[in-house]
Amino acid sequence: MTAALSVTDLTREFDVSAPWLNRVVERKPRAFLRAVDDISFDVPFGSCLSLVGESGCGKSTVARLVTGLYSPTRGSLRFSTDPAGKPLAAQMIFQDPYASLNPRWRVFDIIAEPLRELKLRDGDAAISDRVSDLLSTVGLSPKDARKFPHEFSGGQRQRISIARALAGEPRFLVCDEPTSALDVSVQAQILNLMRRLQDEMNLTYLFISHDMSVVRHMSDQIAVMYLGRIVEQAPTETLFAEPKHPYTRMLLETIPNVRNPHRRREAPSGEVPSPLNPPSGCAFHTRCPLADARCQAERPAMLSHPDGSRVACHRVAEAMDPAPAAP
Ligand SMILES: Nc1ncnc2c1ncn2[C@@H]1O[C@H](COP(=O)(O)OP(=O)(O)OP(=O)(O)O)[C@@H](O)[C@H]1O
Ligand code: SF4
Ligand SMILES: [Mg+2]
Repeated sequence: MTAALSVTDLTREFDVSAPWLNRVVERKPRAFLRAVDDISFDVPFGSCLSLVGESGCGKSTVARLVTGLYSPTRGSLRFSTDPAGKPLAAQMIFQDPYASLNPRWRVFDIIAEPLRELKLRDGDAAISDRVSDLLSTVGLSPKDARKFPHEFSGGQRQRISIARALAGEPRFLVCDEPTSALDVSVQAQILNLMRRLQDEMNLTYLFISHDMSVVRHMSDQIAVMYLGRIVEQAPTETLFAEPKHPYTRMLLETIPNVRNPHRRREAPSGEVPSPLNPPSGCAFHTRCPLADARCQAERPAMLSHPDGSRVACHRVAEAMDPAPAAP
């Protein structure tokens, strides 16, 4: 399958050094935080790849790299071209629909802005028709165009954000926790809307969530991130049927079990280490129940498995390809 987006060896560091004078007086070196550390993945056309992981693992940084808000420190991002030969552009949908909509603008102007900026419609009548169509597409009424964002509920505001993103006619949407700020019942409506739009418009999604049950609903592929790195990537069914990386298993422990829905939902155990001073070897070794001396010393390579998954873990690799017995 052709990739809409190919990401290769992508790294992004932030300079988090103290101001120059403090560094001189306190003899502190410069400090860099590696928010995204050498990650590679492809997103096939018309599919949804989700990034999942605990707070601070680098999901939003990847989203900002993909939409061009940040530039890579190293590595590359390559979008395919659309049928007209233009490189695909990515539009972003954010977590907080209120913060991402201008509160002083009417919904009409919020949605019309990309139409005018990108010269996608000419003349007031054509712009007005298109705004009405977009509002209907996301389940709102054309009459809502006259209102301001504060007159809507959280779920309706996220529908407005989606209409605005679609106004630019993107083929690729980056959705950063688009439902995390919403009530559970509303979350499902917005996720269903996004899936319907994906089918109808043949959109490609990079979807971000810390919630395993949300990504299960949305994704064709899931990439699990830990401290800036992808530790496991697999087709959704495979990841849920046979999670391999100990961190993926820990995350799956936190969602209600279908066979035992009354089991208490537990947060993943242990603290995420500081990305300013990440652990040696496998960065997960400070929390991993299977860690041994090799895990502390040596960073595991990403290995591909016959079921389509990729996993970076010494133990998983050893189980796959047992070392020859000593003579
Ligand atoms: N502009 C920045 N300057 C310095 N550090 C940053 C910057 N942006 C992100 N970071 C750091 O990079 C790491 C990854 O942050 P990021 O926002 O990508 O994580 P996330 O997975 O989206 O987390 P969350 O689930 O909380 O949204 C964090 O340690 C964060 O503090
Ligand atoms: S490499 Fe070692 S520490 Fe890392 S996940 Fe695998 S077993 Fe755990
Ligand atoms: Mg984030």
